Amino acid sequence: MARLGLGVLISGRGSNLQALIDASAQADYPAEIRLVISNEAEVEGLARAAAAGIPQLTVDHRDFDGRPEFETALTAALRAAGVELVCLAGFMRLLTGGFLDCWRDRVVNIHPSLLPAFKGLDVHQRVLAAGVRITGCTVHFVVPDMDSGPIIAQAAVPVAAGDTEDRLAARVLAAEHRVYPLAVRLVALGQARLEAGIVAIEEAGELAPALLNPPD
Ligand code: GRF
Repeated sequence: MARLGLGVLISGRGSNLQALIDASAQADYPAEIRLVISNEAEVEGLARAAAAGIPQLTVDHRDFDGRPEFETALTAALRAAGVELVCLAGFMRLLTGGFLDCWRDRVVNIHPSLLPAFKGLDVHQRVLAAGVRITGCTVHFVVPDMDSGPIIAQAAVPVAAGDTEDRLAARVLAAEHRVYPLAVRLVALGQARLEAGIVAIEEAGELAPALLNPPD
């Protein structure tokens, strides 16, 4: 089986990276991680990649004159490693249209809310302040507008009475770790395809593109 080559971009902890590492350790997973890049040195995610024997690199955005130069370096490293799909996993830099043109429909991201609700930062704090009853997470194709691209897969997570930001974040994160490998699998198998700006999912047995909490 030819496996789709993944490049994972991180800035920190890398728990979603770990979920992708664990998924690609399965023989029948249709994708493999060929490179992990962090824009921050010595973060936990880089150690996770090293422990799994995956090539990893720090490309510090502060070392470049501007965003285009930084992104040119990212693209060069990703291409050299044979990356075919770029997975953002807690990557804290906005990517410009220039980078996305080079990787058209080949960049995915995970966001800790049910998009299009609660784009941006401090999501769980805003979810609690808004009093919503159900939140979750979303994997989507990346477009220049932040957290706005076509949705591939989502998981729902109920908000519990008395939830704190940390407790809610932990439950959403557990759902993220299930839904990101699922979404990448769908893309790798060609079962999640962009059609007229939204993602069409080819039904694939238990690979349902929506999950409900609690994770089983
Ligand atoms: C996750 O909550 C992800 O949804 C968001 O950033 C966080 C990254 O966490 N984009 P980790 O580095 O994968 O542990």
